[in-house]
Amino acid sequence: MYILGINAAFHDTAAALVKDGKIIAAAEEERFTHIKHGKRPVPFSTWELPFHAIDYCLKTAGITLQDVDRIAYSFDPESVSEASVYESQLDDDVLTAPDVYQGWDTLFLNYIRKAPEQLRDGYPHHLQKRLADAGDITGKWVYVNHHNAHAASAFFPSPFQEAAVLTLDGRGEKATTGYFIGKGNSLVQIDSVDMPHSLGMLYEKITTYLGFLHSSDEYKVMALASYGQPVYLEDFRSVIHVGDDGQYTIDDFDPVQWWGTGRKKDDPFEQLHHDIAHSLQKALEETVLKLTYWLHEQTGAENLCLAGGVALNCVMNAVIRDQGPFKNVWVQPAAGDSGTALGAAQWLDVLLNSTEDQARYTAPMEHVFWGPEYTDQEIEKFMIWAKMPYKRLTNIARETAAILAQDKIIAWHQGRMEFGPRSLGARSILASPIHPEMQARLNDIKDREDFRPVAPVVLEDDAPEWFEDAGVSPFMLFVYPVKEDRAGRIPAVRHTDGTARVQTVNRAQHPLYYDLISEFKALTGVPVLVNTSFNTRGEPIVCSPRDAIECFWTSPFDALIINSFILEK
Ligand SMILES: [Fe+2]
Repeated sequence: MYILGINAAFHDTAAALVKDGKIIAAAEEERFTHIKHGKRPVPFSTWELPFHAIDYCLKTAGITLQDVDRIAYSFDPESVSEASVYESQLDDDVLTAPDVYQGWDTLFLNYIRKAPEQLRDGYPHHLQKRLADAGDITGKWVYVNHHNAHAASAFFPSPFQEAAVLTLDGRGEKATTGYFIGKGNSLVQIDSVDMPHSLGMLYEKITTYLGFLHSSDEYKVMALASYGQPVYLEDFRSVIHVGDDGQYTIDDFDPVQWWGTGRKKDDPFEQLHHDIAHSLQKALEETVLKLTYWLHEQTGAENLCLAGGVALNCVMNAVIRDQGPFKNVWVQPAAGDSGTALGAAQWLDVLLNSTEDQARYTAPMEHVFWGPEYTDQEIEKFMIWAKMPYKRLTNIARETAAILAQDKIIAWHQGRMEFGPRSLGARSILASPIHPEMQARLNDIKDREDFRPVAPVVLEDDAPEWFEDAGVSPFMLFVYPVKEDRAGRIPAVRHTDGTARVQTVNRAQHPLYYDLISEFKALTGVPVLVNTSFNTRGEPIVCSPRDAIECFWTSPFDALIINSFILEK
């Protein structure tokens, strides 16, 4: 049975296709349209569906929309209470939603209710091959509660047979935090925290106050936090109240009254901004830690699965790992809303096709490479047509490692694209971590803010020798301290607080990527590379060979390694 999952209600629009417990394909719409996050999370754009991502999923399976058995949409318009979505933000006076949103709630929900018709009739003309003549879409359509979709995306692909599940995001229909218990093929909600109390929205509010784009740049606030002190932690503590029943409330407050006018987009950063970011981060960590203790008490589970946009906060995840009550923590790599496309599809797949007492129905997710890939023939044909001065490599890993060992910065386009917001070796910018100036060089090349750290990828077997208590971390969703005695060898990836956002890789996950790092280790003694996303500022990560080549020729990278080919400047 083919089940197509769609996320479109807010942002990070995406599609995923599953078949009989297996993931076939998953991708974010932004990679095809070049509009970051697909769209902004505003009511005016709710109608936009991830048509290109849907088309890609169908193409991968060799089917058309007509062949899909069910369609799962990760927001249930009937679960929205009278305290509805955009207007409730105004009514509750919690968010900074502009007045212009007033009156759009009806349209927002109608757009969602009309999504089946939009899918059937609204597809772009160039995608008609697989999307036209779809037949009875409405009869196949199922709305899945947003936090159920997040929770399913966290538990069903996890390595655990049993686990507690915590979902944390801005908001779903009304929930902002979800508590679940997963066992085999069953996933049951225990409780939730509902609007207007939302840790995700609190983080968004401060993201806006600090001059960043909310629902997008929260990871920059997390990076900024490590330069600050908890000077304003008591301010946050005065408004966040955690009960002993898993519930929390957040009082409304105006940051301008606390700390004066917020930072504007291009203003310089001051210590005040670092300290606010730091205090916010600490407040988030200590609050979520309390929630995990409550969840542990309720479930008695050894394992915890996390999803929701807040679970992309890898510093918070490390605190839960190190100070929380659970033995093991697994985070869905597409923890943000794009992951709900997969979660909605898996929720429905498990519901329809598994039984509770049956052995586990879904397989653990060992990697994120569920996006498009391109053959050597396709790429070579394109480069000949475009008159590109390419060469073919005979030993891709060895020859690329030699270039990296010369401190050159390379773009790397290999195999199926990643699902989720992180580049993990399929669409990456790679460099040597051995010289400290590499971080500044990369930030300059990618036109990023100076404070932004760059992250390491390390061979899984070598990780414990280089990072304190390093476990398996294939999705770059946890930080680990760099070992003191190794810090001098990999200064470029050591953040100001002594940690690094580590990706571990084994050979099964991506053989060529693994071989490349092994060859770099053979040359330098260092089993670590800098790995950052293959894009430039404001652009989504590249997807196609054309995207890669355009990005390469308009950025100061030294070489592009694309399948077996190299382009050099
Ligand atoms: Fe969400």
